[in-house]
Amino acid sequence: MSEILSHSQLTAIAEEFGTPVYIYHAEKIAEQYQKLKDAFANQDVVIFYASKALTNVNILRYIKSIGANVDCSSINEVKLALHAGFAPEKVLYTSNGIAFEEIEEAKNLGVHINIDSLSNLEKFGKKFGHTYPVGIRLRPNILAGGNLKISTGHDKSKFGIPVDQFQKVLECVEENNLFIRGLHIHTGSEIKDADVFVKGIEKLFEIIPYFKELEFVDLGGGFKVPYKEGDTETDITLLAEKVKEAFANHPNPGNKPLQIWFEPGKFLVSEAGYFVTQVNVLKEAGTTIFAGINSGFNHLIRPMFYDSYHRIENLSNQNGPEKTYTVVGNICETDTFASDRKISEIREGDYLVFYNAGAYGFEMSSNFNSRFKPAEVMVKDGKAVLIRRRDVFEDLLKNQIEVE
Ligand code: LLP
Repeated sequence: MSEILSHSQLTAIAEEFGTPVYIYHAEKIAEQYQKLKDAFANQDVVIFYASKALTNVNILRYIKSIGANVDCSSINEVKLALHAGFAPEKVLYTSNGIAFEEIEEAKNLGVHINIDSLSNLEKFGKKFGHTYPVGIRLRPNILAGGNLKISTGHDKSKFGIPVDQFQKVLECVEENNLFIRGLHIHTGSEIKDADVFVKGIEKLFEIIPYFKELEFVDLGGGFKVPYKEGDTETDITLLAEKVKEAFANHPNPGNKPLQIWFEPGKFLVSEAGYFVTQVNVLKEAGTTIFAGINSGFNHLIRPMFYDSYHRIENLSNQNGPEKTYTVVGNICETDTFASDRKISEIREGDYLVFYNAGAYGFEMSSNFNSRFKPAEVMVKDGKAVLIRRRDVFEDLLKNQIEVE
């Protein structure tokens, strides 16, 4: 049985904490983590949760409690992870395009670091030589992912050192006597096809033999999650079989057996999240009925930014007849969550829930139009607890310096 929160649980939380509110179901995160652990049970696999998806410190602590490690995309995420109690060796910093000083800071904090440019690799080598192990983020030149904005491994992407510059990498490593502990690739987000990961592994195997001190290959994140009925997630069991086969086909004689790292974000937290809003106004305009909610792309940017589909249900009239609505936000520009969507009849004041709101929902929210960021609630052991209060007016002025 899959872990889900019922309409009545969601409604009770909306009533208790107000809307708009993000709600995270802890046990669903654990369920997703367990799927990965089970599938890779007989392989040396380590899971680093890609915390950029959702960094609330309570979620980080929960992730720690279920045994996962954590992957970070900024030095502040590293500091949040350490603050949440992760030991440095459980923290990975996969940087991109950052100042060298940030890499030094990460080194001083003792975390794993994947370096993604020749320039920073060289600076690191000059300063630290062989004294601190690092991973190299490579760009595999593979196009995959839900859409171009979330595809990161293709041959026009800014991420990683292009694999075709491998000779330069080798020269840099040799000249500076670098200790290369890992090789990293991340091809994109929402990759359903397990073969994409295998293609990445194949590319890595051309390079692996050159690194004698290698301990891990990091295959990044990007597993697909289901958004609508009929959608499926990446078949993790199949993926595990294919990864095993790929490694069996490429023995690494003389070197240490390689550990495999993954960095899933969406897979762990997307479905664990619900975003509950309330309908402010209904507006009929020609053949369209707009349902205007008390939120906007300042709270959930994915539909406007990536054309993402989020399933929407009316919590307040589940058995009402279905009608067609265009669900819009209150931001003062085009702000559409869903066009011509069938939803059970909506009345002003009804609660609408957005599914798949755990990953890159709150995390990408802003105060645009000087609106408050929503509250966040975590449900664990059947109990709902506030883990971030909604903004208040003072928050809007907090960092402003009133000079006159
Ligand atoms: N590792 C690296 C190096 C990444 O860049 C990412 C995501 C991940 C892991 C985790 O990917 P995931 O498992 O979550 O797909 N904001 C977009 C997604 C951007 C993903 C960026 N990098 C969205 O809402 O769809």
